Amino acid sequence: MDTKKNKTDAFNHLWSANSDWTQVAEQGGPTFIVEGDGVRVKDLEGNEWVDVNGGYSSVNIGYGRKEVAEAMYKQMQELPYFPQGSTSIPAIKLAKKLSDITPGDLNRSWFSSGGSEANETAIKIARAYHKRQGESSRYKIISRRGSYHGATGGVLWAGSGDRSDYEPASYPGMLYAPHPDPYRCELGGDTPSECAVLCSDAVEKLIQFHGESSIAAIIAEPIAGASGTAVPGDEYWPNLRKICDKYGVLLIADEIVCGFGRTGEMFAVNHWDVVPDILCVAKGITSSYSPLGATIVRDKIADVFKGKDNIFVHTLTFGGHPVSAAAALANIEIIENENLVDNSKAMGSYLLQNLNQMQKQRRMIGNVRGKGLLASIELVSDRNTRTHFNPEMRLGPRLSEKFKSRKMILNPPVPYINLQPQLCSKKSDIDFIVSNIDEVLQEIENEVY
Ligand SMILES: Cc1ncc(COP(=O)(O)O)c(C=O)c1O
Repeated sequence: MDTKKNKTDAFNHLWSANSDWTQVAEQGGPTFIVEGDGVRVKDLEGNEWVDVNGGYSSVNIGYGRKEVAEAMYKQMQELPYFPQGSTSIPAIKLAKKLSDITPGDLNRSWFSSGGSEANETAIKIARAYHKRQGESSRYKIISRRGSYHGATGGVLWAGSGDRSDYEPASYPGMLYAPHPDPYRCELGGDTPSECAVLCSDAVEKLIQFHGESSIAAIIAEPIAGASGTAVPGDEYWPNLRKICDKYGVLLIADEIVCGFGRTGEMFAVNHWDVVPDILCVAKGITSSYSPLGATIVRDKIADVFKGKDNIFVHTLTFGGHPVSAAAALANIEIIENENLVDNSKAMGSYLLQNLNQMQKQRRMIGNVRGKGLLASIELVSDRNTRTHFNPEMRLGPRLSEKFKSRKMILNPPVPYINLQPQLCSKKSDIDFIVSNIDEVLQEIENEVY
C-alpha cells in the first residue's frame, strides 16, 4: 500500500473530525490504522500503538473480534437491508435483548445510526409525548453546562461547546443547569454529596422558575464522560428522578458513553437504581464495529404512541440496520460471556488506585476521578487555587505529541486527560498507560515549573 499516495489523497479530499488538513499535513499527514487486536492497533508502516480510549471511547470489547465480523458477514449475505414497512430478525432480537438488560420497564427501542440521532429522537419523543398528553406547552429541555449530547442541529444546543459558528440558536427552549462536578462545584458544595444536593435543587428551582408546565425533559449523562468524568454524589440521580416525577418532567439518560459496561455496571444508572424514562445508547452497543444508536423508552411513554392516530412520525434510513443489529447482538454476547462489565469495574479500580498514587508525585494533577473504565485526570497549574494552565501553553498538543512518541494514541481535551480504555484491558495494559502518562507529566513539569 502506497503511504505517500494515501497521504496526498487524504490532503486533497478528506475532511476529518475536529482537524484541519493543512496542519495535519504539516505534522506528517494522518496516521493510517490498518488493523487492531484488543487495545492495540497497527498503522500502515507496521508500527503498533495502544489506542488508549478505544476509538471514541467506544470499542468496548476491543479490536479484532472475529465473532462480530462473522455475524455481520452472515447477516450481510442473508439480508443486507429490508423493504419499506418490514423489519429484520436481528432488529427484533436486539430490541428484546435491550428490554432484558436495561433496568425497569425500558422495553421499547427506536433504532438510529448513532448517539446524536439517539438523543435527537429522545427529545422529539419527549416533546411529542407531552403534546399527545394534552400538554403542548411543555417544550423546554434542561441539560447541564459542561455536557455534550451530540453534533447535530438540535442536541448541539444541549450542554456546552463552541456554537458561535451556528448562531442564532436553532433550537428553542434549551435551559442549562449546573454540572454536579464535586471538584469544581459551581454552587459551592464542599463534598460530592453537598454538590449533588445543591445541583439537583438547582434543577428543581429552574423548573419552578420557568413553570413546570413549560418543561418537557431533562437530558443528562449519568457520569459526564465527555467532559472530565465528574462523578456526581450519590444523591444526584435519585434526586433527579424524584424531581422529574414531582413535576411530570421526563428524565433522559444519555448513556452513549456510559452504556454497555463502561462504568462497571451494564448501564450507569444502575449505580443508583434509577430508571430513566428514556435511555439513549450508541458507541458500545456494537463496540463501534458498525454504526448504531438506540432510544429505549419506558412502556408508559411508548404506549402514548400506540394506535394508528398516535404514530410517532420519524424515519432514519439506517435506523435498525440488520447488519448493525447483528453486530450488536454478537457484541453484547461477548460482553456478557467474558464478564467484561466486572472486568471494567476491577480494572477501573486498579486504574484509579494508580492515578491516586501518581497524583501524590505530580503537582500538575489537580484531581483524579472515575467509575469503572471511565476515568479522568484534571490538570492544574496550581493545586491550591485549582487554576488551569494558560491555553497559550498549548498543553493539549504538547501532551499528544509526547504520548505519540510513546506509541500511545491519546489526545487529551485539556484540562482533562480522559481515560476510557477498552473493557478487555488487562493490568499490564493499565500499567503501560499509567507509567507513560506519569513520565510524560514529569517531562512537562520539568518544562513548565
Ligand atoms: C455523551 C455523548 N452523547 C452523544 C454523543 C454523540 O454521539 P455520536 O457521535 O455517535 O453522534 C457523544 C459522542 O461522543 C457523547 O459523548
